[in-house]
Amino acid sequence: MAESERFDTLLKENRIFLPTKSFRAQANFNDVHIYEKAAEHPEEYWAEQAKHLSWEHPFSKILEWDAPHAKWFADGTLNVAYNTVDRHLENGRKNKAAIIWEGEPGDSKVFTYDMLAREVNKAAHMLVELGVKKGDRVTIYLSMIPELPIAMLACAKLGAIHTVVFGGFSSASLKDRIIDADSKILITADAGWRRGGLIPLKQNADQAVDGTEIEKVVVVQRIGEAANVTMTEGRDIYWHELMESMPTTPFAPEPMNAEDTLFILYTSGTTGKPKGIVHSSAGYLVGANTSMRSVFDMKDDDIFWCTADIGWITGHTYIVYGPLSAGATVVMYEGAPDWPDRHRFWRIIEKYGVSIFYTAPTSIRTFMKWGHEIPMAHDLSTLRLMGTVGEPINPEAWMWYHQYVGREKCPIVDTWWQTETGCAMIAPLPGLVATKPGSATKAVPGISVDVVDQDGQSVAPGQGGYLVITKPWPSMLRTVWGDDERFQKTYFGQLRGIYLPGDGAHLDEEKYIWILGRIDDVINVSGHRIGTMEVESALVDHPAVAEAAVIGRAHEVKGQAITAFVTVKEGIETSTDLIAELKQHVVKKIGAMARPEEILFAAELPKTRSAKIMRRLLRDIAEGRALGDTTTLADPSVVESLKLQYQDKE
Ligand code: WT7
Repeated sequence: MAESERFDTLLKENRIFLPTKSFRAQANFNDVHIYEKAAEHPEEYWAEQAKHLSWEHPFSKILEWDAPHAKWFADGTLNVAYNTVDRHLENGRKNKAAIIWEGEPGDSKVFTYDMLAREVNKAAHMLVELGVKKGDRVTIYLSMIPELPIAMLACAKLGAIHTVVFGGFSSASLKDRIIDADSKILITADAGWRRGGLIPLKQNADQAVDGTEIEKVVVVQRIGEAANVTMTEGRDIYWHELMESMPTTPFAPEPMNAEDTLFILYTSGTTGKPKGIVHSSAGYLVGANTSMRSVFDMKDDDIFWCTADIGWITGHTYIVYGPLSAGATVVMYEGAPDWPDRHRFWRIIEKYGVSIFYTAPTSIRTFMKWGHEIPMAHDLSTLRLMGTVGEPINPEAWMWYHQYVGREKCPIVDTWWQTETGCAMIAPLPGLVATKPGSATKAVPGISVDVVDQDGQSVAPGQGGYLVITKPWPSMLRTVWGDDERFQKTYFGQLRGIYLPGDGAHLDEEKYIWILGRIDDVINVSGHRIGTMEVESALVDHPAVAEAAVIGRAHEVKGQAITAFVTVKEGIETSTDLIAELKQHVVKKIGAMARPEEILFAAELPKTRSAKIMRRLLRDIAEGRALGDTTTLADPSVVESLKLQYQDKE
């Protein structure tokens, strides 16, 4: 297998980076016994961490575990917006910068905690005025502008459940999510900036809300006239017009039960229908807050920049809830890394003195392609810690990041986690754990993971298998919105009470974990999770298509790229125009991140005699490998012709 080869070369290199004495001395977590202590008494460990939050009513119970349903701190109450904003007005951080926002065109805004609190109060009053009540769902479809975290925090303040839909999703995807969550309010913007062009958010929203229960659309004016929007009387209202008339009087934070839902965030699974991942209030915040202090070693004078979009879990946890609950200063950037030129990210680090930088391997590989001269042209001396997330990082990219961005003095935390886990699960604590480029190292304190074989038995060091999480943790997903059965089956269907993330992993001789990638029908394109079934459904939705099979193939920059094999209906002519049309159709149905890299027409798809599509063979074809076992194939000539066609393409 290609993966085990990759792994062998890694191990031969055997590079290890030890925490420096000086880093360790200043680290928040610098007692190595924390690992054993937390492993012996995980519940006590989490109860201890939970004390970093401000509770309205303290909890007396820590965990109730009726597998696979967990309740953490169940009799406690708190408010998440109080914890992320208001409490800092009383603890000396009132006039500290909470969010430093940089717009793509070069405009910028700073919100102190006090200013942020005013905006959140007004927005909460506004939502109430619009009829939003505790427990209602509010869909938010925005690009990276300050109104996005403000809207999320306003929901949290009054106890409404937000569901943020990434601005790159199509109107069809937005519509599915609005319907699934049963939202009556949508918050969007006239349009968003991207590489100097406009993302037509309001136009997409107009198409999406048709046929849903949406009663009000609140529109942030980010662009103005150029966005050319039509406002529907009685339904659409401008954010700024409503906000203007709102009182700045404090909005009393709604006391929420620890287990009340804070938000729903949709993610891809192995079926065509995305799952609404449900997160709790207290447990989620405990996880987010703890990892800020442990994995990111956050201090009061740090400037923390996570480059993810808030539309994904990384942005929820490491732009909004984690850092703000810890009283951090975060940088939030609206646009692309190459706008107006490829220096933008490094200029932002220089401009604001970013000290902790968190980005994705796919971005690092893009920067590598652009050349190290670009980051080297900047003073990045304020950086002291860097992170990666979203996919396995190849050691070359790790070393490049270490050398040209971190200038060989910043520890790198490779953080493995998922939408479902809420916060980083496998990652080094930078003051305590030696790192190996390409390995996320080991579980953070309080988290129990293992690598097991098909029967659920732990594998020996030096072996590979399935990654599992063996004990409940505070920030775990609570269910799938509206489909608890799917929650139970997907994540706990194999082994009782053991969470199955869907990733393969290798355990090395020192029990370091090396994540190998997904073991299910999920593709990871540039750190974005896309279900093969979703893309297949989008293709089959096109009138010319009879059948489609979609696979992820290795890609130098994106990690994986989407290859689609398509059979057309009787009488349809295949052409390059049709390829372009089908790609566009997928973009329309899902969003640009799901656009297939290549589409190949097949007279027939390779199937077993029981008519199951053999994706493994398609993957072999797309990655130019010798075909694996073809004995179960119903018609072997099918793959030969596909193989020839694939080679011709290049
Ligand atoms: C999947 C989760 C929350 C992170 C953003 C993506 C892959 C994530 C790593 C890493 C290797 C990683 C896994 C996981 N993944 N981080 N550090 N090393 N793989 O969240 O969209 O829920 O995707 O991303 O395959 O299952 P997500």
